[in-house]
Amino acid sequence: MTAYPITDHTFDVVVVGAGGAGLRATLECARLGLKTACVTKVFPTRSHTVAAQGGVAAALGNMGEDDWRWHMYDTVKGSDWLGDQDAIEYLCRNAPEAVYELEHFGVPFSRTEDGKIYQRAFGGMTSHFGQGIAQRTCAAADRTGHAMLHTLYGQCVKHEVNFFVEYIALDLITDENGVRGLMAWCLDDGTIHRFRAHKVILATGGYGRIYYSCTGAHTQTGDGNGMVLRAGLPLQDMEFVQFHPTGIYGVGTLITEGVRGEGGYLTNSEGERFMERYAPNAKDLASRDVVSRAITIEIREGRGCGPLKDHANLHLSHLDPKIIHERLPGITESARIFAGVDVTKEPIPILPTVHYNMGGIPTNYMGEAVTLHEGDPDAIIPGLMAVGEAACVSVHGANRLGSNSLIDLVVFGKAAGMQAAKSIGENRSHASLAKNAGDEALARLDRLRNAKGSTPTSQMRLAMQKAMQEDAAVFRTGPVLEHGRQRILDIYRGGADIGVSDRSLVWNTDLVETLEYENLIAQASVTIASAVNRQESRGAHAREDFPNRDDQNWMKHTLSWLDTKTGDVKLDYRPVHSYTLSNDVEYIPPKARTY
Ligand code: FUM
Repeated sequence: MTAYPITDHTFDVVVVGAGGAGLRATLECARLGLKTACVTKVFPTRSHTVAAQGGVAAALGNMGEDDWRWHMYDTVKGSDWLGDQDAIEYLCRNAPEAVYELEHFGVPFSRTEDGKIYQRAFGGMTSHFGQGIAQRTCAAADRTGHAMLHTLYGQCVKHEVNFFVEYIALDLITDENGVRGLMAWCLDDGTIHRFRAHKVILATGGYGRIYYSCTGAHTQTGDGNGMVLRAGLPLQDMEFVQFHPTGIYGVGTLITEGVRGEGGYLTNSEGERFMERYAPNAKDLASRDVVSRAITIEIREGRGCGPLKDHANLHLSHLDPKIIHERLPGITESARIFAGVDVTKEPIPILPTVHYNMGGIPTNYMGEAVTLHEGDPDAIIPGLMAVGEAACVSVHGANRLGSNSLIDLVVFGKAAGMQAAKSIGENRSHASLAKNAGDEALARLDRLRNAKGSTPTSQMRLAMQKAMQEDAAVFRTGPVLEHGRQRILDIYRGGADIGVSDRSLVWNTDLVETLEYENLIAQASVTIASAVNRQESRGAHAREDFPNRDDQNWMKHTLSWLDTKTGDVKLDYRPVHSYTLSNDVEYIPPKARTY
């Protein structure tokens, strides 16, 4: 496309995204001597990891006895037996080393009296295989993600990583040899860039913004997942969307689970600590799916708080103000700004809010993207890797435990860097790309840039967000999901009428949002189709018409492909890895639901 002059680059590895996973992968690649680029649509320290609050899970045992095997047990159970146990073993085993590495990089963790890393209780984290409560979540006050992101960025700068900041990734470049690179658009000067690489590592985060109310940043549009679907590759387990129990009522801003870890509790309109009924042992520290469902039931049964009886209250005013000041300063400020509440005196009004996507790009525990190919469910896609929330490793299965996300970012970010170095090896020469490589991506950019339809992007996005919020919520039923699927399909097909008003290439945010919308609607399509299809309840997928977990028929990962022309979705399955990596632990067999 001569209308768009191209600047060519060649790297060993191109990482897309500069959140915790992207930066940790970038850092490892650079440390291992790979010529590495990090392409990111926001300045690295503005990536969404910066908003992560409560902490990073690792069995350090600083605040009581702990063992990585207990962490593994909790993660398998929390995943509702949809997690791959080889990957979960890798995560939990390597977690302590990953946290000490962060400490040595310079993360300013909160400290115990004797100077060790401070650890707090978090939902679903237990000791002795479910017998006690574990304090396993390592915290830097309630700004752990902020501390990690800034530290990792500093380390990347130290290793002279090539950052391409405020570059919008458009699409993967693929050929018969697999993924060969990436097309990107530089917002600052409107130039187009073609990156050739041995490996593209997608670290583009989640896609919470398919929903109306979400704890994620507006930039959380799952751009890598959108690129994967357009490349004709599948996403995995997209039906599993986590609602965080405590988003601020009306705005969705996150209030960390760390509040409950420090002794905060929830009440209904009768002042009752209702979690004691739903989870007599774990109470307010039950896993997120359990707490979100409990709040929803309380509201449905008329025990919601406030004049509209439509939320619950989170109390922390009974806590020592010194603890609030030292360990929860961030949420104190958020509650004041977004809810007008002084947490030392009043409860925070909260509501379950979309927070995390368990699904994403299927990978093995080394970060290599996989697919189902000629009967092989673990076939590696050459050249493509994924880490962080964009990936589905799958360690979180059907439901992620709080603080297992930050540890996932660093353990698998590092693993991907190591695997990239191993698989690229010593011969770094690059085969040439086809002359027209990237043309399809530019044709798409050009089509949207010149789109003259009558519906603005914002209207399409709002329609999608409302449909997902109303029809694919905490509780789901077949007919409501099917209604949502049809709505999303209509909205998808309505894309032909999209209208973009700004035709420039420099800081054209109308066009950026339109590219992001295309990524979102693609993911909404596979999410709702996968949810309609899964006829059981598991983790975050609570079907009222199929209230039980059905291991016989559904202990398997959903794979979803999108026909980008029609919006139709094709589904298939991969088996769950019901084996571990070593002889140190045995497979943890499913138990009947105990919550
Ligand atoms: O509640 C929180 O601080 C969130 C943590 C997480 O999602 O891991």
